[in-house]
Amino acid sequence: MTHSVRMSAPTTSARPGAVGEPVAGAWPDGAGPGGADDSTICDVDVIRVSGGARLAGQVHVVGAKNSALKLMAAALLAPGQSVITNVPRITDIAIMGEVLRRLGCQVSFVDDAGPVTTGGGTGPAGDGARSCSVTIDVPEAPGTEADYDLVRRLRASICVLGPLLARRGYVRVAHPGGDAIGSRGLDMHVAGLARMGADISGEHGFVIASAPRGLHGATIWLDFPSVGATENLVMAAVLASGMTEIDNAAREPEIVDICTMLNRMGARIEGAGTSTLRIEGVPELRPVRHATVGDRIVAGTWAFAAAMTRGDVTVTGASPAFLEIALDKLVSAGCLVETRVDAFRVQLDRRPSAVDVVTLPFPGFATDLLPMAIGLASVSEGASLVTENIFDGRFMFVNEMARLGADIKTDGHHAVVRGRERLSSAPVRATDIRAGAGLVIAGLCADGVTEVSHVHHVDRGYPDFISDLRGLGVEVERATAPEEPAFTL
Ligand code: EPU
Repeated sequence: MTHSVRMSAPTTSARPGAVGEPVAGAWPDGAGPGGADDSTICDVDVIRVSGGARLAGQVHVVGAKNSALKLMAAALLAPGQSVITNVPRITDIAIMGEVLRRLGCQVSFVDDAGPVTTGGGTGPAGDGARSCSVTIDVPEAPGTEADYDLVRRLRASICVLGPLLARRGYVRVAHPGGDAIGSRGLDMHVAGLARMGADISGEHGFVIASAPRGLHGATIWLDFPSVGATENLVMAAVLASGMTEIDNAAREPEIVDICTMLNRMGARIEGAGTSTLRIEGVPELRPVRHATVGDRIVAGTWAFAAAMTRGDVTVTGASPAFLEIALDKLVSAGCLVETRVDAFRVQLDRRPSAVDVVTLPFPGFATDLLPMAIGLASVSEGASLVTENIFDGRFMFVNEMARLGADIKTDGHHAVVRGRERLSSAPVRATDIRAGAGLVIAGLCADGVTEVSHVHHVDRGYPDFISDLRGLGVEVERATAPEEPAFTL
C-alpha cells in the first residue's frame, strides 16, 4: 500500500547518504549500542555467525524502538522535564536525542540495569545495558526546524512535525524521502494537518507547515491506517482547539503507548487501540515519566529464530498478546508455544511445516517480521506463500536470501518460498534493520559461517544483538570487514 505526496524540487543542500547511516560516537560515553563487546558503530562492520545452532535459553526484550522514538517527540508537547524509561539503547534513539537537542532540549541518557540473556551459551552473554532512561528538558519555545542531515539518518524524525506545529504554530522538517523498504509517502500526514487548519507546502526538500492562529479540531479519515500519520495527527490534535476524530487510525501497541503517555500528560484521547480516535484538545500539557512498551518485533524475531533452529527460547519483556497472529503461525508450523502476561516460550524439535503469511496493519502479521517469516519458510517442509501489503520494497532482501540458497520466487507483492532442509553459508549484505536481523537468523540454519555486512542496520533496532545470540548458544562474532581495494582507471 503506497501513496505519494507531491512535493517541490529536491533540496539543493542535500548530501549523499542513506537513511540509517551510522552515527559514530552518538552516545554520550562514546560507546556503541552494543555495549562493551561492540563499541564501534561502523558501516563496514560484519557479523559472522556459525550455522547449525540450536537456540536455547531466556532472552529479555526491552522497550520498542518504534514507540520510544515517538514518546521522545511527544515530550516536546510540554515544557519541563519528561523522563522516558525502558528505552532501547540503539543508534536511532541517539539520533532522536540529537534531533531534540538541536530543537533546544537538554537530553541525557542513563543506562538501566536489567536482566540479560541466560542459556546454554557458548560465550559470555554480556552485561552491557540494553535499555536506558532518557531525560528530556523541553524549553518554553522549542526550535522549529529538523535538518536533512539528521532526518536522512532517522526517518522517524518526521514525528516532530505534529508536536512542533501544535506548540509553535510553524515547523520546517526535512522530507525524509524513501528508503530500502519502499517509497514511504507523507500524504496522509500532510492532508490530516491541513484539515486541522495548517498551511503546508514543500520547498527545497523540506515540509513546511504553519498555523499562525493555531490548529483546530477536525474529522479525518485516513486512506490507510498509517502508523506515522496517526502519531503525528494525534500529537497535533492534543493541543488543537476543539474535537478531532481520526477514523481508520492505526491500532498498533505503540499507538496505544503514545496515547497513554499523552493522557498522563493531561491530554484527552479516547479509543486508543481501536480504529477511531477521539481527541479533545486541551490548552497545555505537563511533563511526565513514562515506561516504553516492550518491543514486539524484537520479541517476534526471537520467536522465529527459536522455530528456525528447532530450539527452545523463552522471551520476557513483551506481551504475547501483541504477537497473536505471529505466534499462531508458529503453532501451525509445529511449535509448542506457551504464553504468560509478558513472556512466552517457543519450542520446536522437528523441521517446521510451511505456513502462508500475509502482512497487514496491526493486529495483522507485522511487516517488520516479514524477513523472519521468509527465513522460516526457507527451511520449512513444503512451500509457503508470503504476501507483503505494507511496503513496496520489502522483498529487496530476498536476493540476499537467494545467496544463502533459499528458493524464493517473487511476483509483485507475493513470494513463493520452497523450503530446504539447510541453507548454504555465504557473504550477504543487510539492507535494512529487519532484513539484517533476518539474514543473521537465516545464517543459523546454514552450513558453515555466514558473514552479514552493513550490520549498522541491525544496530538500529536490536540492542546488543550479538550478546543475546551468544547467550542463547550461538557462535557469533562482530568484526571489521577487510578494506575493499579501490579500483582506478
Ligand atoms: N504511507 C503513505 N502515505 C502516508 C503515510 C504512509 O503512502 O502519509 C504508506 C507508506 O509508504 C507505507 C504504508 O503507508 O507503504 C505504511 O506506512 P506507515 O505510516 O504505517 O509506517 P511508518 O510510520 O512509516 C512505522 C514503523 C515501521 C513499520 C511501519 C508499519 C517507525 C519508526 N517505523 O513506519 O518500522 O514497519 O510503521 O508497521 O515507527 C522498522 O522498525 O524497521 C520499521 C520500518
